[in-house]
Amino acid sequence: MAKTIIFGNQKGGVGKSTCAILVAGTFSAAPFNKRVTIVDADEQQTISIIHRAAELSGQEARWAVAPFPDPIKGVSRKKFDRLLEDVQSKSDIVIIDLPGYLDTDGKTANVSPEADFVFIPVPPTNKDVPSSEDYLNFMLNIRDIVKKEFDHEIKVIPFCNMQRTGHSSTGFIREVFSDWKKRFKVNSMKAMLGRYVEHEDVGMGNDLYNNMSTNKSKNYTAWINELASIMKIKK
Ligand SMILES: Nc1ncnc2c1ncn2[C@@H]1O[C@H](COP(=O)(O)OP(=O)(O)OP(=O)(O)O)[C@@H](O)[C@H]1O
Ligand SMILES: [Mg+2]
Repeated sequence: MAKTIIFGNQKGGVGKSTCAILVAGTFSAAPFNKRVTIVDADEQQTISIIHRAAELSGQEARWAVAPFPDPIKGVSRKKFDRLLEDVQSKSDIVIIDLPGYLDTDGKTANVSPEADFVFIPVPPTNKDVPSSEDYLNFMLNIRDIVKKEFDHEIKVIPFCNMQRTGHSSTGFIREVFSDWKKRFKVNSMKAMLGRYVEHEDVGMGNDLYNNMSTNKSKNYTAWINELASIMKIKK
């Protein structure tokens, strides 16, 4: 059975789509070698556009992208279930890319119960924390309802994205996570994802794990290894 992930946050531009591509690119390559599909449920079509551009520039497509039905009209539950079942049957890992807003059309609430893991990218800045905390609460509510109604377990895990090594914001985000642990009993990832790759350069995310030569990218190895360990994804 495929493991289904969402990188979610109601805050726009925190790295949801970037993380989806990084994870897809890495887990579809050695030493993980998994079948990965990203379901593009954002009407901005970030993932589909990047996948197409990378393909046109000659990059090998190791992960697949599945379109979301009726992206403009919002979720069509029946169609979505059918699509997701089909994608899950053909993949080891399914990542759903959602838009950076909370549910004006019910999409996030409808789709989120399908996840096994919801990772919340949180940039280490004052302005990103309150909306990330709102989203965390929104997801914890969904988690509790889904557990009670369907006995399905969703793991909700915040992590720091765009961390700068040695920067004071690292201490700040650790305090935020420790506060969330006290108040909401959630464990955040220990590894933080560094600011190391720009959108235009992500492409298919190929070879990130294997071609790590810079100091900065060591961050990435620790982050992906912790993610794999949380999700019990074997090399
Ligand atoms: N770890 C990172 N290092 C450097 N830049 C990053 C990182 N993560 C994200 N970014 C940059 O931040 C910007 C927003 O990223 P992205 O589009 O992935 O966010 P998003 O949460 O999916 O946004 P939206 O809500 O619009 O869907 C992009 O320019 C991307 O390159
Ligand atoms: Mg996005």
